[in-house]
Amino acid sequence: MAQLTLHTRSGSHELPVELHQTIVTIAKKNKVTWGHACQRGVCAQCRTLVVEGAEYLNEITQEEKLRLRKAERAEGYRLGCQIQVVSEGDVMLTHRPY
Ligand code: FES
Repeated sequence: MAQLTLHTRSGSHELPVELHQTIVTIAKKNKVTWGHACQRGVCAQCRTLVVEGAEYLNEITQEEKLRLRKAERAEGYRLGCQIQVVSEGDVMLTHRPY
């Protein structure tokens, strides 16, 4: 079964992949602290580095294009409230707020 690994300041959390749910939603549901405020792609408190499995994620959203610099996106940064896993595969993410 595909695995979702979430790295936070408090450590590493291994969770089963849930398709079409945002990372913020999955983190909340599993009591993993993943900072967020707006859940609309505005505050960037949920900024996330995609370490592995970008190919299993949804396309970068318009909100991410507006909020994150092009250079950040090129480095693999996204927003946890916008990321969804859309196909089965191992994904590893790190919470990296500013
Ligand atoms: S929660 Fe505000 S940008 Fe993701």
